[in-house]
Amino acid sequence: MAKLTDDIRAQLVAAAIAAREKAYAPYSKFSVGAAVLGTDGKIYTGCNIENVSYGMTMCAERTALFKMVSEGCRKFAAIAVVAGENATDGAPCGACRQVMGEFAGSLEDTEVLLASLKGDYIVETVASLMPYPFVNFVSQED
Ligand code: THU
Repeated sequence: MAKLTDDIRAQLVAAAIAAREKAYAPYSKFSVGAAVLGTDGKIYTGCNIENVSYGMTMCAERTALFKMVSEGCRKFAAIAVVAGENATDGAPCGACRQVMGEFAGSLEDTEVLLASLKGDYIVETVASLMPYPFVNFVSQED
């Protein structure tokens, strides 16, 4: 996978902002958008999808990652997440960080872009957001 450029990062952030428009969040009224760059070069988008039985809610990040895996791509190079005016408003929950660890192309190099609705972003990595991950069974080769 080629190194990420600022152009690609900006594309991912724009895709996450657009995906956020699709959020189904009538209970929390908190819309989140995500866009994943698969190692196949494709962009997979996701939004949060709530349910009247609150615990059934799915986060934007996992929607996007599960779409990627269900389309046959099992590793990703970067994910952008956006929720509000501040870049950290959409900082991923613990469950999403765990799922990112499962499908990261590389824990150290896979980027997590925390973006604002204005388009500015902070670059983190899966490893920086989740130190000491539980990966006993996960081979980075698979
Ligand atoms: N949410 C996400 O989509 N991603 C996260 O990482 C944290 C929370 C959603 C779930 C719920 O629909 C709303 O934000 C409020 O918790």
